[in-house]
Amino acid sequence: MPYESTYQQSITDAEQFWAKQANDIDWFNKPQQILSQDEDGLYRWFSDGILNTCHLALDYHVANGRGDQDALIYDSPVTQGFARYTYRDLLTETSRLAGALQSLGVGYGDRVIIYMPMVPQVVFAMLACARLGAIHSVVFGGFAAHELALRIDDAKPKVIMTASAGIEFDKILPYKPIVDKAMSEAHHQVDKVVVFQRWMHRAVLNDETELDWDSLVANAKPVGCTPVKATDPLYILYTSGTTGKPKGIVRDNGGHAVALKYSMKQVYQVQAGDVFWAASDVGWVVGHSYIVYAPLIAGCTTILYEGKPVRTPDAGAFWRVISDYQVKTFFTAPTGIRAIKKEDSEGLLKQKYDLSCLKYVFLAGERCDVATLEWVKELLDIPVIDHWWQTESGWPMLATPIDHGVVHEVKPGSAGRPVPGFQVHILDHDGHVLPRGAEGAVAIQLPMPPGCLPTLWQATDRFKESYLEVYPGHYFTGDGGYQDADGYTYITGRIDDVINVAGHRLSTSDMEEIVASHPAVAECAVIGVENELKGQVPVGFVVLKSGFDVTETGLENDLIKMVREQLGAVACFKKALIVKRLPKTRSGKILRKVMRHIADEKPYHVPSTIEDLTVLEEIGEVCVHQSFKQI
Ligand code: COA
Ligand code: AMP
Repeated sequence: MPYESTYQQSITDAEQFWAKQANDIDWFNKPQQILSQDEDGLYRWFSDGILNTCHLALDYHVANGRGDQDALIYDSPVTQGFARYTYRDLLTETSRLAGALQSLGVGYGDRVIIYMPMVPQVVFAMLACARLGAIHSVVFGGFAAHELALRIDDAKPKVIMTASAGIEFDKILPYKPIVDKAMSEAHHQVDKVVVFQRWMHRAVLNDETELDWDSLVANAKPVGCTPVKATDPLYILYTSGTTGKPKGIVRDNGGHAVALKYSMKQVYQVQAGDVFWAASDVGWVVGHSYIVYAPLIAGCTTILYEGKPVRTPDAGAFWRVISDYQVKTFFTAPTGIRAIKKEDSEGLLKQKYDLSCLKYVFLAGERCDVATLEWVKELLDIPVIDHWWQTESGWPMLATPIDHGVVHEVKPGSAGRPVPGFQVHILDHDGHVLPRGAEGAVAIQLPMPPGCLPTLWQATDRFKESYLEVYPGHYFTGDGGYQDADGYTYITGRIDDVINVAGHRLSTSDMEEIVASHPAVAECAVIGVENELKGQVPVGFVVLKSGFDVTETGLENDLIKMVREQLGAVACFKKALIVKRLPKTRSGKILRKVMRHIADEKPYHVPSTIEDLTVLEEIGEVCVHQSFKQI
């Protein structure tokens, strides 16, 4: 069916539409109840369905003739490592690891934190949890011990699975000391830590609570799949919100499997047997959905790439992988493309590879500037599709539709039209739908389709407050945007304190908390400013306590170190400026949006409530000699 009628059906007859899509996965007990509301009044999909996500990703394919097909290809330019796992191999690895976890007492509903680099074992670990009906929570390796500790205390895991080290370009980053530090900071006590030892760096295991991964698995017996309810959580993925406490996004099993399988054909145009590559990290939602679960549930071959777009070894790295493994659909963040463009602006390295296998490129994770989209489109001469989604949705909400291989008009700057199931509205302050062309808050009319977060981990009130009560009847995305006459949506950026640095979602209030804890700092504001490579980078504006004698460089170095140690290197906090005052409204609210516009050298509207106009001039003077775009 063409996009228009598919979309209409998904909205006017959502239950029938999703009941049909649900037939596409192998349930243990098919759901009769398609959409319902739980005791908290929250929408739930397929509530009486019984299934197991690991069964869908592995056992089902082995039982149906895909056992010898590659399921996972591991390509690691940073270690010169390479491995292929067929569906049968992946099932063997996963079911044994599940047996090992079971021997440690992990079972249905227990939480397991996974803090690992991009090695195949991270995929085994996620699937092994799913197999047992346990709930995994993967924490991105770029987060520091404090962030890990926050997640340990919130998820209360029985076990932490980690690796001895990760590798960033040519730097070996030991993980075990970070886990040790996080555990000593956390109040919750973990039973066991399982450590996957890598050849380039072995971790010291201190006592009987710390176990060697290989020895544990060597003695384990494979186990089968635990049937779980569709509404049982598959995973918790923490993401940055507007406070210092990360939000534990819950993903359920049933809606997730149905939505992801649907997205592979509807959005990404792949089917069983195709090779699909999302160049992201399993620590982010893109990695969860499109490195691990969706490609495997759909019977595709997925690629786990432990490398970067550039300098591993060069800016042709993505093209090599695409050509080596015959990738049909490729997904990355615009930053990845900008990094390549910066080092190989003519795209000469691409000429070394035969990319005739590649049919589509999808970009997401941050706003895609038109120049980047046009550059990669011209270089590859295939459709390049910017699409929009977030950790909370778990799969795309906006994308340019493709009907029978024919791509609708791609409008650069727009993330496309609503994906079936999503009613995307632009709202004013009072929650009224704005006319086409007017900018406002991007919200999704309830109910959202399957796959989207049903709630936050053990924080339903916070879920309602942050997402549902802002615009009653809608889910509030945190993004601003507008729609054109053809129904294409343009996402203009976050309207809260979240920023996107190299496609990584971070909270400026988190950083403000750290900066404010420096003894010389009286008050501060951290804002995201435009950056040529990373899209945005954080910059701190600091007012000193009187009588403190610090140099700007000395203070900046302290703050950089503090943010690295407490939040993580991934924050890319590299700039702090001393100012006399921060611009505020009379009620004391810091005018962060105005500061952002000043830093980005953009025109801005001066709010009538501003306390003192001269502060803006001072901020302008401080910013004028900075080249934020090149930080
Ligand atoms: N574990 C530990 N540290 C990590 C890490 C991880 N998984 N990922 C990043 N870091 C560290 C980096 O080493 C770097 O530390 P440094 O300041 O000591 O150099 C810091 O976090 C910032 O990383 P990043 O923003 O990635 O910058 P970079 O200079 O290392 O690389 C790019 C720049 C453009 C190559 C890189 O950001 C990239 O590949 N982006 C693609 C976008 C992407 O995959 N986004 C994911 C969401 S879809
Ligand atoms: P994350 O939850 O980490 O996936 O980040 C989600 C946020 O990234 C969204 O709320 C947007 O602010 C931003 N984002 C993701 N994709 C796009 C896109 N295609 N265009 C603009 N912003 C995007």
